[in-house]
Amino acid sequence: MRRGRATIATHSHREIESVSRPVVPPITLASVYEFGDLDTLLAAYKGGKSAWSFYRRFGHSNGRLLEETMAALEGTGDALACASGMAAVLTIFSGLLGKGDRIVAQRDLYGGTYAYLQNQVGRLGAEVTLVDGEDLPAAIVPGTRIVVVETVSNPLIRVADLAAVGRAARRAGAILVVDNTFATPILCRPAEWGADVVFHSGTKFLNGHGDAVSGVICASRKLLGPMRAFAAGMGTGVSPLDAWLTLRGLKTLGLRVARASDNAVQVAALLSRHRKVARVNYPKPVRYLRPHRGPMLSFELRGGLRSAARFVRACRLIRLVPSLGDVTTTCTHPARSSHAYMSPAERALVGISDGLMRISTGIEDIADILEDLSQALAKV
Ligand SMILES: Cc1ncc(COP(=O)(O)O)c(C=O)c1O
Repeated sequence: MRRGRATIATHSHREIESVSRPVVPPITLASVYEFGDLDTLLAAYKGGKSAWSFYRRFGHSNGRLLEETMAALEGTGDALACASGMAAVLTIFSGLLGKGDRIVAQRDLYGGTYAYLQNQVGRLGAEVTLVDGEDLPAAIVPGTRIVVVETVSNPLIRVADLAAVGRAARRAGAILVVDNTFATPILCRPAEWGADVVFHSGTKFLNGHGDAVSGVICASRKLLGPMRAFAAGMGTGVSPLDAWLTLRGLKTLGLRVARASDNAVQVAALLSRHRKVARVNYPKPVRYLRPHRGPMLSFELRGGLRSAARFVRACRLIRLVPSLGDVTTTCTHPARSSHAYMSPAERALVGISDGLMRISTGIEDIADILEDLSQALAKV
C-alpha cells in the first residue's frame, strides 16, 4: 500500500547504511529508543547491556563517551556525567549520604558547594563540620562518613595535602570526595593519593571554550552505583550536546593547561612585584601538581572594593567573568560572585576580602596579558 504524505514525512528517521563511519561521534538527541520485542525492553529496564540506550534520562552514547574518557583520565574505573558541577555535587551526596551521617569539609570551598553543605545537607539529616584545610586530617575521626576537599581551593588557591587527608579518611573508614576542577587530571589524579570520588565542573577547563555546562563524577563502578541510580531517577545527567562539547574540549586539555599554566607563572611574578598588590596566591612547586602549577591564581589588591572596581573597569583584554577555565584570560571578584552566598563574617573567616581578585589564565600571547594587567593596575 502506498503511504500517505503525512506518514512519509513523520517516518523520516531511518539510519542511512554506510561502510564508513564519522571520525567524530554523532550527537544523539533522541529522548527515547525503540525496541523489537518485550523481552529486550524489560532487560533494558532492568539494567541489561542495552540500558545506555532506552530513555535519555538513563544515559546516552554522548554521555557514555565522556564518562569512559574521564574514567581513563582520572584512573577511577568508571565515571558518571552530570548536567553541571553542582548537579554532580547533588548526585554525590544524594547517592552516598544516610541519615545522621557526619561530613567533614574544608572551609575554603567553591561558594556553591559551600552553600549546598551549609543549607541543604542538614535537611537530609546529616551533620557538616567545616575546618581550615590544614586541620582537616585531625578532624577526620571515626564516625566520619564523607570528607570533602578541593585539590586547589576556590578562591584562595590552597593545595590540599591529599596524601595526609587520604590516610586520615582511610583510617576513619570515610569516603574521600575531591573536587579536581582547578587542577584537572592533567596536573593531578586525586585517586592516586587516596580519593574515592573525584569530581569536576566540566563547564570549566574540561570544556575550555565557554560553550557547555556539565559535571563529571569519577569513581569505582560499585561506589557510583547509587549515584547512577539517583541521576537516572531524577534526571541530573548531562545533555548530549553538552557532553559532546565537553568531550571535544578534552582533546586539547593537555595543551591548554600547559600553556595557561606557563602564562600563570608569569602573571603571578608580575603581580608579586607590584606595589598595589598586597598578596598573591599561587602554588609553590608541590608534588600534587605536576608537571605544572596550574592556570589559577588570586591576588589581593590594596584598597579593597574600590580598587577591585577600578581594576575590572580598566581591563581591556582580561574579561570580568563569574567562571573560569576558558581559553581566554578572565578575572572575577569572589566576594561579588562565586562567594556572594556567604555572609561577610563567613568570608572574613575563610579569608576572602573585598580586595581579592581571582584570575583564570588563558592561552593568549603572554606579552598581551602582562600588558593589560600592567595598564589596569596603573589605573587602580
Ligand atoms: C571548583 C568548582 N567546583 C564546582 C563548581 C560548580 O560547577 P557548575 O557551575 O558547572 O555547576 C564550580 C563553579 O564555578 C567550581 O568553581
